[in-house]
Amino acid sequence: MSSSTKTGVVETLRWRNGRLEMIDQRILPMRFEYLSYANADEVAQGIRSMVVRGAPAIGCAAAYGVALQALAHQHTEAKAFTQAMAHGFEVLAASRPTAVNLFWALQRMRQHQTAHAHLPQPELANGLLTLAHEIADEDVRINQAMGAHGANLLADGARVLTHCNAGALATAGHGTALGVFRSAVAAGKRISVYADETRPFLQGARLTAWEMVQEHIPVTLITDNMAGHLMKHGEIDAVVVGTDRVAANGDVANKIGTYMVAVLAHRHQIPFYVACPLSTIDMSLPHGDAIPIEERNPDEVTGFGGQRWAPEGVKVRNPAFDVTPAELVTALITEKGVVRQPNEAALKKLFEA
Ligand code: MRU
Repeated sequence: MSSSTKTGVVETLRWRNGRLEMIDQRILPMRFEYLSYANADEVAQGIRSMVVRGAPAIGCAAAYGVALQALAHQHTEAKAFTQAMAHGFEVLAASRPTAVNLFWALQRMRQHQTAHAHLPQPELANGLLTLAHEIADEDVRINQAMGAHGANLLADGARVLTHCNAGALATAGHGTALGVFRSAVAAGKRISVYADETRPFLQGARLTAWEMVQEHIPVTLITDNMAGHLMKHGEIDAVVVGTDRVAANGDVANKIGTYMVAVLAHRHQIPFYVACPLSTIDMSLPHGDAIPIEERNPDEVTGFGGQRWAPEGVKVRNPAFDVTPAELVTALITEKGVVRQPNEAALKKLFEA
């Protein structure tokens, strides 16, 4: 395996020779390979097909998609450039619906484009690339800040359950939920992780387990239906997950199955923490029912990797996310600190000053 993890650093996205390269997360952990992207259409396809996934990573990829589109069309005449940019924003915005970081990053890129529209196109394109780099660098710093806040919530020896992958692979680096584990370990705490396999796409089994194994952080893989049993037997001290979008009232959208884990944690009086950068909070939506939930291909439920196990003709549902009501969230861990029992007033405060 040619891996960029020799130093313990997973470079989910990287800029090489004027192109964006992204780890192909669809083939992990069996193979470690980068795919290369040259324009917005290609990046949108990479997001849609799950080469890159996880809310902050999707946002960063989209920012690079806009920059690539500008670079690819910088020498065309003004009208064609404007049309190509409009198409780039459109195709990226349509790539996946739930993670708000995608729209947050596109908005930042669009604001930059509007504010610098008077510049020669090559200059504007380079400015957009600089902003994409900044968004990615900022994401790592934010994750490290969240990690430091979150690490304080975990006791030495804590056994922590996580669902889906909210690691370095789901961000520009360090991770949100897994960033909390990494920071706790760096602070000298002995943390052991339980990773839900996360049916149907198996982000927990394939990505979270891989990241933790790479870094020698003790990890135990369980199927999703084992979490309740372990909680009942006192084997889980805390739950930490990431999120794709948090509504103004503190309702949390995350990978399908997260709600089930939150209900179980509540039943067993286990703290349920959500690592949540401010870029994932959508104050325009009053509550979680307004969050668009992606419905994915039935093939993900009827089989895996080309192997079908369900009968032909069976009806299938495949919502990719669910919403955990704010009342089940013990705290949001943000880069600005820990927000206990999140509600609208507390979230509004995060955006002040
Ligand atoms: O469908 P995915 O793999 O993009 O879903 C990812 C998740 O749900 C993550 O838990 C979430 O984006 C938080 S990532 C820091």
